[in-house]
Amino acid sequence: MLRDGVISAVGPAAKIEKLKESKSAELLELDGRVVLPGFVDSHTHLIHAASRAEEYDLKIQGVGYEEIARKGGGILNSVGKLRATTSQDLKARAQLFLERFAEYGTTTIEAKSGYGLDLTSELRILSLHKELDAEQPLEIVSTFLGAHVVPAEYRGKPNGTRDYLRLLEQELIPDVGENGLAEYCDVFCERGAFSVAESRQVLAAGKKHGLRPRVHAEQLSNTGATRLGIQLGAASCDHLEYLKPVDIRALSKSNAVATLLPGCDFHLGLQKYAPARKLIDSGAIVALATDFNPGTSPTLSMAMVLSLACSQLRMTPAETIAAATINAAYSLGRYKKVGSLEAGKQADLAVFEVADYREIPYYFGVNTCWLTMKRGEVIHMRD
Ligand code: NIG
Ligand code: FE
Repeated sequence: MLRDGVISAVGPAAKIEKLKESKSAELLELDGRVVLPGFVDSHTHLIHAASRAEEYDLKIQGVGYEEIARKGGGILNSVGKLRATTSQDLKARAQLFLERFAEYGTTTIEAKSGYGLDLTSELRILSLHKELDAEQPLEIVSTFLGAHVVPAEYRGKPNGTRDYLRLLEQELIPDVGENGLAEYCDVFCERGAFSVAESRQVLAAGKKHGLRPRVHAEQLSNTGATRLGIQLGAASCDHLEYLKPVDIRALSKSNAVATLLPGCDFHLGLQKYAPARKLIDSGAIVALATDFNPGTSPTLSMAMVLSLACSQLRMTPAETIAAATINAAYSLGRYKKVGSLEAGKQADLAVFEVADYREIPYYFGVNTCWLTMKRGEVIHMRD
């Protein structure tokens, strides 16, 4: 039973029908379809100007992600495109994607900046997160990722990295914190991006200004980013393909969520997936997300991520659903409001045209989402 956008009671039909409020309630007939909490996609790079389809042929021919980046492609390619795009165009593009997310059953997303990498462009992205959160039904949780890579104009200069870190620490992060433009501060801790020491500097500055850490960790190599994240109280450590046993132990003892993004490995054709089974079996909190972005994971389908998690990460369908809802909500500090179907929680629901919940990941690449509801409002319904 739903009332005023909130779940007021949950249970078998016989019990709900006996409630006093049932008499005046409107019945939504679902004909045996499966209802889940709306997906919480806890890692996306929503705002970007264009795809990187021009890099796709190279990737398929076997040119590596890092090699493409060294040749001026990769993240810097997207940065160039974003800087040349008006906020209005970026917003229109993001709006279309948000409608698509809703069609796939997602009701809350995290969104990272990180394709601006200068003061005005990063602030433009974060302002768009705010505007979009207010103007359309999906909830957007904003993360500052100024430390995605060192931008081109700072590279090759004697103290380029140091100067860019100074810009982040002394200008951008204080501005973002004071104006409430983000809840989280993220960093891409990887060779070719930022070292552990540099990442520590950025995340510590974020914390000082009220931004809780998240970290892109152990995606292409083991850097120690996961242990750094845990040490700094990160909400989430994401990617984790190159996790070591010591990292798994550390995660299992911490409240940091291990957010796995198998869409990246799938898109890049990499064989090394994150050790999901070991993480779950050792007691770590595992979430799944799309990592929707133009470089490594151009998908906004959580169902596809669930399929990959089942077949490649060997997670059970039930584990994938918990990972894509309540565990992801926990990593975004919203588990009291969203991520499960319980009385008192927001009426964020996704209804699937399937006979069994396992059919959601089973039909891979197929969108079985039939209806999506955010705070009790229908935001998508298949005709
Ligand atoms: O999560 N790893 C860093 N950031 C993104 C990729 C960004 C890009 O290639 O545009 C990721 O995979
Ligand atoms: Fe990412």
